[in-house]
Amino acid sequence: MAILTVHRFPDPVLKQRAKPVTTFDKTLKKLSDDMLETMYLEGGIGLAAVQVADLRRLVVMDLKNGEEKNGKPAPHEPRVLVNPEILQAKGEIVTEEGCLSVTDFRAEVKRAERVEVAYQTLTGESKREWMEEIGAVCIQHEIDHLNGKLFIDHLPLLKREMVKKRLIKMQRADQEALRDDVRIAKRGEPQRKAKA
Ligand code: NI
Repeated sequence: MAILTVHRFPDPVLKQRAKPVTTFDKTLKKLSDDMLETMYLEGGIGLAAVQVADLRRLVVMDLKNGEEKNGKPAPHEPRVLVNPEILQAKGEIVTEEGCLSVTDFRAEVKRAERVEVAYQTLTGESKREWMEEIGAVCIQHEIDHLNGKLFIDHLPLLKREMVKKRLIKMQRADQEALRDDVRIAKRGEPQRKAKA
């Protein structure tokens, strides 16, 4: 397995619309394994292939990631959903969302509380099931990724523009700090961390 690079806003790849999976081969299994490993390392509960710059409609999830059971990390409950789509949606739920592609920002987003999802397994078997609450929120967030949309795109226009500007500014500051580190390292001085 390998750790993949998670692309961050405003990387243009995050605006791409992913394409349906038609070939259920070894590379699809490898992608899902690598995505799960990356998601566990980054501490997320969901990851869409678009976020690692692979334009296949594939999502991994583990709603228990980061939870504890009897003082120990909860056992992993990994899920892989290929070509997921929402068949019907019911109710409303507002939760605070974050995203591995949007660092250091969380915001409340309104979504459907229950959704019926059709998807395929890694071997191409068709399934459908109802997902609720955090599961419903997570799959809606991930399907958004497959359609080139981020959770910040759900914010009201003015707030959205403000947040995007701030995130771009923060990312530039990070990149400059990284460049400074490289310069310092080249001069043979001890390297400091890019972020405090
Ligand atoms: Ni996300």
